[in-house]
Amino acid sequence: MKKATVIKHIEEVVKRRLSSEGTGHDWWHIQRVRRNARLICKSEKADLFIVDLAVLLHDVGDRKVIQQEEDDYSVAETILKTQGIPHEVVQQVMFIIKNMSFSKSLNTRKDLAPKEFHVVQDADRLDAMGAIGIARAFAYGGSKARPLYDPTKKAKTTRNAKAYKKLGSSSLHHFEEKLFLLKDLMNTRTARRIAIGRHRYMRAFVTQFLSEWDGKR
Ligand code: ADP
Ligand code: NI
Repeated sequence: MKKATVIKHIEEVVKRRLSSEGTGHDWWHIQRVRRNARLICKSEKADLFIVDLAVLLHDVGDRKVIQQEEDDYSVAETILKTQGIPHEVVQQVMFIIKNMSFSKSLNTRKDLAPKEFHVVQDADRLDAMGAIGIARAFAYGGSKARPLYDPTKKAKTTRNAKAYKKLGSSSLHHFEEKLFLLKDLMNTRTARRIAIGRHRYMRAFVTQFLSEWDGKR
């Protein structure tokens, strides 16, 4: 198995699978998460091959991408298994993919997770924050025909993974329900530093949004 050849092949497979993806998990999301991961890796001793594989494959079986009720991890696993990748590597990559999502990690013991997990989870979460995060939230809401905002509803916050999946208000509520929580959930120092700036930017956006909503600005 030549690592570079495997990565190249998987890139092509993922690109194909995520084309025409309208819920914010397109190929450009993968590219951005990859750049975030590389940056975080500069100050973390993580295995880059495992990080790269997990980033590339983390969304191919996402329930939003495959348009099913539940995530299907066999999509990523099948792709990995056709590449002659050592069994332990497949296991390590699959651990990351299975446990990194926001709803799942509400129930995951983070202190037991390997470095690579911390890197990939932070890299993905950073892409849900800041200007890109704002754009993705409203793109996602649009794909589900959700309103930008609905002042008659209240943001529902929950630490329970099952209940979290059922939340569904407006795109602006997503900030309280998830995006404003991410800053304090980062695993690595590098990501925490970047998250602080992106968090501030989102706060300012929501304040401005609500002022405009009330016709105050
Ligand atoms: P990721 O691929 O970063 O793990 P998700 O699968 O949770 O993210 O969601 C993809 C994007 O859509 C993210 O930017 C996320 O914040 C946004 N998103 C998810 N659920 C909602 C929602 N209910 N309302 C608005 N945006 C959402
Ligand atoms: Ni993602």
